[in-house]
Amino acid sequence: MKESASERMKWFLEARFGMFIHWGLYAIPARGEWVRSHEQISVEDYQPFFNEFNPDDYDPREWARVAKDAGMKYAVLTSKQHDGFCLFDSKLTDYKATNTPARRDLVAEYVEAFRAEGLKVGFYYSLLDWHHPDYPAYGDAHHPMRNNEAFKDRKHNFENYVDYLHGQVRELLTNYGRIDIMWFDFSYGNMSGEAWRATDLVKMVRELQPHIIIDNRLGGNIKSEKPEIYAGDFASPEQIIPPEGVVNEKGDPIPWEACITLNDHWGYCANDLDYKSPKQVIRALVECVSKGGNLLLNVGPNARGQIPAESKEILREVGAWMRKNGASIYGCKGADRPKPEWGRYTQKGNKLYAHVLDRGIGPVNFRGLGGKIVKARLLADGSELKVRVPWNATEFVSDAFVSFGSSRLPDEYDTVVELELAPDSK
Ligand code: GLC
Repeated sequence: MKESASERMKWFLEARFGMFIHWGLYAIPARGEWVRSHEQISVEDYQPFFNEFNPDDYDPREWARVAKDAGMKYAVLTSKQHDGFCLFDSKLTDYKATNTPARRDLVAEYVEAFRAEGLKVGFYYSLLDWHHPDYPAYGDAHHPMRNNEAFKDRKHNFENYVDYLHGQVRELLTNYGRIDIMWFDFSYGNMSGEAWRATDLVKMVRELQPHIIIDNRLGGNIKSEKPEIYAGDFASPEQIIPPEGVVNEKGDPIPWEACITLNDHWGYCANDLDYKSPKQVIRALVECVSKGGNLLLNVGPNARGQIPAESKEILREVGAWMRKNGASIYGCKGADRPKPEWGRYTQKGNKLYAHVLDRGIGPVNFRGLGGKIVKARLLADGSELKVRVPWNATEFVSDAFVSFGSSRLPDEYDTVVELELAPDSK
């Protein structure tokens, strides 16, 4: 059964918050997943990591609990990164987890564990492949051997690689039950669109998993009035939250998901302790939702399969906030009103959520909402807040005001006030 784009996107727009997981051999050198490219490391010199890959503490059930406790509703795991190493048991290559000391299909265990926690499951799949002999090497923009003269006259047949890529995607979407997201990464220069035989690829993906949603990195133009069949279901801004959300060429908002790292790397990087604070993460999530987007927040488990303790600690705090304030995130979108001075709005139906980030002084002013608020509550505990025009604000007749009764905000990360609007309020 075919599903329309808006049907398949429904759960995603409701979910708003997901976990990105970058994991592979590169966790051992621990300098991020681009290590082979950045340091121009050959397949041979990278081989020791394959020979010793043995994540003795890999417990995807724990990962799934961490995600769920943080309030995340879905996850996306790197089934294959640019280095070409497969966490899954592909019949099309020997370069896979089952041939390392790990000896297991790590993707199968991930799918099972995340499903069991009720989370939606996605696969990241790198279109680039620095291990496959038919992927262009010399002169390529990113390949580790791009400058290696020995690769100059190497014969390779790119179409073989594209067959391989299609075959692996078929395996991923055939052997692991229902998959919710296919996250391709990425297109560049001529390596884009039909170079990947993207039309056929997407047709196959949708045939195998009709409900699946696909990101926009196969090289199409998702903003076009007539997007290619492979243009994707959502935009994927990276390490940035777009200033006004994402709109298409007609100016209509389109679904998007910002992918953001917790420190400054996707794959595990031992020396990178530049972690964002829980406050930054919570505010980033709120910012995404206030602009109609999702947040896909990354963790990079280490060589033993552990999510770094720092990441877990941040996610724990985010989760504590989400348990109290999740109603202002799930199923919400931006409000059709200007960004308020003190923070941001999210909205779901007649519930307008005021995310008060900056206490300021005096009562909090809700511009233009005079006479339109039926009820105001502190979302965290449901306690009533009185909406009234204070003695010193009588000239601002069109506004509404709430006083916190303290010069400090109840929640320094983000104090959410739930405003129930009168029917038909604009
Ligand atoms: C970039 C990187 C890749 C990473 C991705 C996440 O495209 O090349 O390594 O997985 O961003 O969005």
